[in-house]
Amino acid sequence: MKIIIDSEENLAKKAAQRYVKLLRTRPDAILGGATGSTPLGLYAELARLYRAGEISFARARSFNLDEYVGLDGSHDQSYRYFMNHNLFEHIDIDIANTRVPDGINTDIAAAYDKEIEAAGGIDLQLLGIGVDGHIGFNEPGTPGDSLTHVVELTENTREVNSRFFSSLDEVPTHAVTMGIKTVMNARSIILMAIGKSKAEIIAKALKGPVTTEVPASILQLHPFVEVYLDPEAAALL
Ligand code: F6R
Repeated sequence: MKIIIDSEENLAKKAAQRYVKLLRTRPDAILGGATGSTPLGLYAELARLYRAGEISFARARSFNLDEYVGLDGSHDQSYRYFMNHNLFEHIDIDIANTRVPDGINTDIAAAYDKEIEAAGGIDLQLLGIGVDGHIGFNEPGTPGDSLTHVVELTENTREVNSRFFSSLDEVPTHAVTMGIKTVMNARSIILMAIGKSKAEIIAKALKGPVTTEVPASILQLHPFVEVYLDPEAAALL
């Protein structure tokens, strides 16, 4: 596990260079996307690099980690909407080559893993981390062999995410998420965390025991993980 500690701005730049390198050697790479506040700087930097002619996603494909159950892609809090507005509309990826789990037809959740496999597997999976250690929406207790599935969100996660909705009641109670195994199947992984609210869980995930109680701790067992932290998120390492 390689740990990179730098300012939020430099982290976005450094992580974006991983994408430049990957897409130069493998223009048809399969990218694993994440939503939330953490990747916004990285996505803005990728859009800037595209405008500058330094990166192209024309042949790339993407699979996002998760989606709220009950929200379709036109809902402004859906993760499909987030990806379109924060990344896909600003780069040259073919929107038909971008996938986000289906929050409406949740009975097809398991087909997502098959689709990823058929595409050749994820080359680079981006992850944020929840304050409870979740990756994707794999909350504490999720088994390590889980594939894409529907989960009930914890009250804590709903409260943390209610900042994007007008009230807590509007936050969906369930989500579809890649499983822990889906994530671990990626050939390489970038985990990003920013801010002091993540310091405690980052220390547990990176230095504590590998346990399903801290879902991100399983990343210690992955052969190629890079962790991008700002000094606040790294404070307790
Ligand atoms: C988002 C996702 C979540 C977030 C995590 C951190 O697709 O899967 O695991 O990465 O909740 O969210 P932020 O970045 O908003 O702190």
